[in-house]
Amino acid sequence: MKRIAVITGASSGLGREYAHAIQNCLSLDEIWLIARRLPQLEETASDLSVSAVPLSMDITKAEDLDRLKVKLEQEEPDIVCLINAAGMGKIGSIAALSREDTVRMIDLNCRALAEVTNISLPYLGKGAWVLQIASIAGFQPMPYLSVYAATKAFVQSYTKALHYELKERGVHVTCVCPYWIKDTEFIGLAAEKLNDYRFMPLALKRIDVVRKSLSDVRVNRLLSTPGLISSSERYLSRLLPDNLIMTVLDHFRKI
Ligand SMILES: NC(=O)c1ccc[n+]([C@@H]2O[C@H](COP(=O)([O-])OP(=O)(O)OC[C@H]3O[C@@H](n4cnc5c(N)ncnc54)[C@H](OP(=O)(O)O)[C@@H]3O)[C@@H](O)[C@H]2O)c1
Repeated sequence: MKRIAVITGASSGLGREYAHAIQNCLSLDEIWLIARRLPQLEETASDLSVSAVPLSMDITKAEDLDRLKVKLEQEEPDIVCLINAAGMGKIGSIAALSREDTVRMIDLNCRALAEVTNISLPYLGKGAWVLQIASIAGFQPMPYLSVYAATKAFVQSYTKALHYELKERGVHVTCVCPYWIKDTEFIGLAAEKLNDYRFMPLALKRIDVVRKSLSDVRVNRLLSTPGLISSSERYLSRLLPDNLIMTVLDHFRKI
């Protein structure tokens, strides 16, 4: 049976970095690279030493998810690694967010992530890894990043339950909760027109997030919080009231 890794969001940023990082471990036969932009997927594939299959798919579309499901049913691979890295955010007040962006965030960050996971589940055997990319935004409500933060709270909650449910099957599931990462396309797309959240002290690099999360999933950690700010926020959000955290966050936003 073919051993594969499935990575969504593989045309850039974290997804591409994960493809590089896992290519020589797990004795993979193939890496399936999923995102909408085919040229960028082909670029990711061409840099890899393992066989890579670029799959141009919009995972918010039912017909594209059906294509993935059918491909899995036909090939019946052993998915040894599933990484759900596709995601998007838009910065701005709830009033300023367009209806389309509001729905796109919910569709991609929540529904598509859960659907790709669901479709992949039958092919995840003992020893497989699942990495779900959430964010520290999911630890508390975030004014001016409200919908995004709420979608990542969904990812955290869903992934914690998945971690618990798949323990018996010997599948490791880790929810990755990074702070701002500056060397991906995310911030440029999130802040296209808006100028909030410019102050990003100690922003992470994607390689740090990837290294930390891969070491965490190896030992089946529930959460991976790379860097000082992600780790501090994880604990502070449990100790401090939401109102206080939102006031502090708003202060940083205005700097
Ligand atoms: N960068 C940060 O500051 C930060 C912080 C915390 C968490 N995160 C999370 O990290 C994850 C990866 O983001 P990143 O920083 O690597 O950003 P990125 O460079 O913008 O990558 C996002 C990826 O998602 C793919 N994607 C977007 N819409 C899609 C769709 N409808 N169907 C399929 N793929 C789609 C994009 O490819 P196409 O455009 O080709 O489809 C791209 O490959 C996201 O879940 C994000 O929320 C990012």
